[in-house]
Amino acid sequence: MPENKPRRLVIAIDGPAGAGKSTVAARVARKHGYLNIETGAMYRALALKAIQNDVSFDEEAELLDLAQRSKIDLQPQVDGNRVLLDGENVSARIREQDVTDAASRVSVHARVREWMVMLQRRMGERGGVVMEGRDIGTKVFPDAEVKIFLEASPEVRGERRFKQHQLGTAEQQAAVISELRKRDERDRTRAASPLEPAPDAIILDTTPLSLDEVIARVEEVVEAKIKATGD
Ligand code: DC
Repeated sequence: MPENKPRRLVIAIDGPAGAGKSTVAARVARKHGYLNIETGAMYRALALKAIQNDVSFDEEAELLDLAQRSKIDLQPQVDGNRVLLDGENVSARIREQDVTDAASRVSVHARVREWMVMLQRRMGERGGVVMEGRDIGTKVFPDAEVKIFLEASPEVRGERRFKQHQLGTAEQQAAVISELRKRDERDRTRAASPLEPAPDAIILDTTPLSLDEVIARVEEVVEAKIKATGD
C-alpha cells in the first residue's frame, strides 16, 4: 500500500579519509535499496580534469569554470561508484595518489563547493540515498534524517588504506599515514565547509570496531529512524 511505504530517507555519512565511509555507505545502501553517492569522487574528477587541462589547483575561478563545463556522472554500483568524466570511465584513475592530493586542494574553494553542493542536492532530493563525504550533514543536507560521523585514529585509518591498496613495505605504510594526516589537516582547517560533525550527528569512533560492528551500529540508527518516520 503506498501509504504504508516507509519514507525514503537521506542518510548522510561524513568523516575523514579511511574511516570506512565508502564501505559502510555501500553496504547500508545495498541493504535498503538506496543509491550510494560518493561525493568525494566529484572533487576527484574535477581534480583530474584540472591536471589534464593544466589548471592550477589554486585558481578558484578557473576551477569553477572547468567544473561547469564538465560532465561528472556517478553511477552507483554494488560496492561503490563508477565515475564518468565527460563520458570516460575514470573510476580507477581518480583513486591514484596525484588525484587524491589534488582533490583535497580543489575542494577548498567556496565557489567550487557551491557548484558541487548544488549538484549533490539534486541527486539526493527524492531521498533514498546514502550520501558520503565531508559536509553532507552540515551543508548538503542539513535536514538529513540520519547523520553519521565516522572517526578513527590516523594509525588505524592508515592501516586500513594500506591493506586496501595491498602495499608492501613499512615505508609505504608510513607514507600512507603521513598523506592521510596532511589531507585531514587541509580538510579540517579550510575556511569553506571544513570537515566537522554536524551538531546533531551521531559520532562513531570506529578505531576499535570491525567493519561488521560499525555497520551494525549504523543499521540500528537507520532502522530506528525508518520505524519512527514510517506511517
Ligand atoms: O572521500 P574522498 O577521499 O574521495 O574525497 C576526496 C577529497 O574531496 C577529500 O580530500 C576532501 C574532498 N571532499 C570534500 O571536500 N567534500 C566532500 N563532500 C567530499 C570530499
